[in-house]
Amino acid sequence: MRSLIDIVDLSTAELDALISVALDIIAHPEKYSDSCKGKKLATLFFEPSTRTRLSFEAAMYELGGNVLSVTGGATSSVAKGESVADTAKTVSCYADIIAMRHPKEGAALVAANNASIPVINAGDGGHCHPTQTLADLLTIYREKGRFDNLTVGFCGDLKFGRTVHSLINALSRYNGIRFVLISPEELKLPSYVKNETLKKFHLPYVQTTDLEGAMPSLDILYMTRVQRERFFNEEDYLRLRDTYILTPNKLRKAKEDLCIMHPLPRVNEISVSIDDDPRACYFKQVLNGKYMRMALILKLLKEAQV
Ligand code: NCD
Repeated sequence: MRSLIDIVDLSTAELDALISVALDIIAHPEKYSDSCKGKKLATLFFEPSTRTRLSFEAAMYELGGNVLSVTGGATSSVAKGESVADTAKTVSCYADIIAMRHPKEGAALVAANNASIPVINAGDGGHCHPTQTLADLLTIYREKGRFDNLTVGFCGDLKFGRTVHSLINALSRYNGIRFVLISPEELKLPSYVKNETLKKFHLPYVQTTDLEGAMPSLDILYMTRVQRERFFNEEDYLRLRDTYILTPNKLRKAKEDLCIMHPLPRVNEISVSIDDDPRACYFKQVLNGKYMRMALILKLLKEAQV
C-alpha cells in the first residue's frame, strides 16, 4: 500500500506530476468535484494544527468525499493507552485514507506499517512534514516559474523545524540550488539532514547567524517559528525565540522579487507590517497547500485501487 511518510517517498517526476494536477485543479475545479465521491478521509491529529488539518479536510470535501476526524488524543482511545498500530488498524476499517499528525518521530511510519489504507504523514515530531513541502513547492513554482538556479535562505529553528528538513530534501533534486542556513548556533540544521541531502548531493550551502548579511543574495527566504514544544527547557526557548524578526528595515537590501515564505503559524518571526508587501507569500502557501493535498489524495487513492 502506497503511503507518504517522507518526501523521499516521491520521485522528482511524481512531484512534478502532483504540481501539474494541482495547477489543473486550480484552473478547472469543477472537473474534480466528484472525484472522491463515496470515499472517506480520516484526519488523526494528536498535535495542534489549523492549516494542515483543515486543508486536508477542505481538500477532501472539494473532491466530493467525506471526512472522519480525531483531534487531540484526549477524546480518542489513545487517551486510554491505545497504540498507534492499533489505531491505524481500527481506522482502516472505517476510512479509505488517513492523514496523521503525531508528536513522535516515526509515528506515521508505524501507522503505515499497520494500516491497510494509505497513510499521509501530516508531521511527525521534529522529523518531517512532506505535505507542507508540497504546498511550498507549488508556491515556489507559481512565484518563480522554476526550481532551478535559486538561492534559498532558511531562517530560524532549523534543528526542530520539520518543514525545513522536508523542503531541503525536495529542493536538493534541482539544478543550481544554493542554501543559506541562518540560525542561532543551538538551532542549526541536524547533521543527519546535512549528510543525507546536502553532503550526499554535493550541494553548495553556507551556515550563518546573520540574516541581514545573507539577504541580498536570496531568491527565497523561508522563515520559521522556534519550535517551543520540542525544547527540553523553557529558558532556552525564551532566550532563542526572538532571535530573528523580519521587519521592513531588514528587507532594505533584499531582491525586488524575493519570495518570503513561512509555513505558519507565525509568532513573532515576521512583522505584520510585511503582510502587504508583494513579496510576502505565506498566505499563498496556505491556499496552495489545499490544492496539493487534493492532488495527493487523488494520487494515493488511485494507486490504492490497482
Ligand atoms: C508547521 C508544522 O506543524 O511543522 N506548521 C504547519 O503545518 N503549517 C510549522 C510550525 O508549526 O511551526
